[in-house]
Amino acid sequence: MDIVLSSARLALRRFAQSDADLLVELDGDPEVMRYLTGGEPTPRDRIETVILPEMLALYDEDPAFGYLAAFEYDTGDFVGWFELRIPEDVPPGPLPAVFELGYRLRRAHWGRGYATEVSRLLVEHAFADFAAVRVFATTMAVNTASRRVLTKVGMSYVGTYYPDLPPIPGAKHGDVVYALSRPVWESRKNTQEH
Ligand SMILES: CC(C)(COP(=O)(O)OP(=O)(O)OC[C@H]1O[C@@H](n2cnc3c(N)ncnc32)[C@H](O)[C@@H]1OP(=O)(O)O)[C@@H](O)C(=O)NCCC(=O)NCCS
Repeated sequence: MDIVLSSARLALRRFAQSDADLLVELDGDPEVMRYLTGGEPTPRDRIETVILPEMLALYDEDPAFGYLAAFEYDTGDFVGWFELRIPEDVPPGPLPAVFELGYRLRRAHWGRGYATEVSRLLVEHAFADFAAVRVFATTMAVNTASRRVLTKVGMSYVGTYYPDLPPIPGAKHGDVVYALSRPVWESRKNTQEH
């Protein structure tokens, strides 16, 4: 495996077109998809023809890592994916150096600190290696676990917005934005070093 990133317990590599089964299984769990699609699985066809090709194309276009597949060192088990990328809606032009963080883990691996472990690493890389001015993430306001991860990696709540998307049943509470800016990251780093 070509490891791109290692955390204490996980090895992360780029996705390949042959990884469709991993994503079909991940997105096939209604609990995983609860705060993303209201529990609807992603069809295999969409994964094979849209999602994976977009993920692969990003490796050439994105200055950060794009999407990485995570595996346990101990078992070799697929844990899920993490993303660090320029936001999807950024217009072409000079790089904004604003990066979006995201993650989606298999239910069997929740509650072990994996999301926090890798997200911390990605935030460090964003500022230290990719000259980020800001790292942000969005999640549904009701996604307590995800909000907790973002707080634990040092991000602060920025605000709530109501995306112009079809409502997801039972979750009309809006999305929240969390972010960490470079000056705050630098001041914390300096405090830790002294
Ligand atoms: C959100 C998600 C990535 C969290 O991953 P994880 O590896 O279980 O998170 P961690 O173990 O690092 O836990 C981080 C914190 O969240 C808390 N937490 C985890 N699940 C929780 C839950 N269901 N409710 C409340 N808090 C929860 C943990 O207790 C921990 O906080 P603590 O250290 O203060 O106890 C995982 O649940 C997931 O993939 N969910 C489905 C996809 C998804 O929602 N992705 C995010 C979309 S924006």
